[in-house]
Amino acid sequence: MNIASAQTTVAQQTFPIPANVYAETVVSVKHYTDRLFSFRVTRPQTLRFRSGEFVMIGLPNAEKPVFRAYSVASPAWDDELEFFSIKVPDGPLTQHLQKIQPGDTILMRQKATGTLVLDALTPARRLFMISTGTGIAPFASLLRDPDTYEKFDEVFITHTCRDVAELAYGQELVASLTEDPLIGEFAAGRVTLYNSTTREESPRMGRITALIGSGKFYSDLGIAPLDPETDRVMICGSMHMLKDVKELVESLGFVEGSLASPASFVVERAFVG
Ligand code: A2P
Repeated sequence: MNIASAQTTVAQQTFPIPANVYAETVVSVKHYTDRLFSFRVTRPQTLRFRSGEFVMIGLPNAEKPVFRAYSVASPAWDDELEFFSIKVPDGPLTQHLQKIQPGDTILMRQKATGTLVLDALTPARRLFMISTGTGIAPFASLLRDPDTYEKFDEVFITHTCRDVAELAYGQELVASLTEDPLIGEFAAGRVTLYNSTTREESPRMGRITALIGSGKFYSDLGIAPLDPETDRVMICGSMHMLKDVKELVESLGFVEGSLASPASFVVERAFVG
């Protein structure tokens, strides 16, 4: 539904839907911790996106709603859209978004875009997805896209969070891959999840930069070190993490790619607020 004057009957709906914005219905909501939740919404039939891209999301709670960029966590073939969000107590959008219920309306701008797309990388054998917090969302999309397995033989996904409970979304995601009727046979035996915490005590602690830097990442997994000849890297998370991982892979000879000029790594900020 994308009619400029459309109104819904949902209690949250007090303003008309702005022009050129989809109004979609929340299908389900899952709270992981007091800081993280995921939700699924109906998919506008005319929305086209590449796995790994983001859309702008808002709520119909103001004449000029606040929009924030959200990576689509579901793959491009899915007939619903999934998102993984932080909850910020005074965040302009997420203080309200965290209260959505099935049946509520969310707004979505009609264009998807982003840099974490397979076409921005040249072919190679191994793909490394490096994420912190909600930065795992675009990789949740790519891990469920058959094209990822067409392009790469092996996929390593790292997810680092402050606390153990924050790792659950990624653990469920990777565990569900092998049961997925479409992706199961592609993903079987080819996806490795490597996670760590930085604040709460857990079996593996430390920032991914430190784990790679010390070589523990490689020895834990029994794999050869990152090498631009054989590997590609996608990075998504907090600003500081992006900067540090970017510097790390550049020091190893990786070159940032784009759709116009595909190369060996891509970066995108996980959006907050
Ligand atoms: P830390 O707890 O040491 O700050 P946040 O929840 O703030 O978005 O952070 C998510 C994860 O990213 C945390 O585990 C955090 O570790 C980690 N992190 C923050 N900054 C960096 C960085 N510069 N390099 C690597 N990891 C980082």
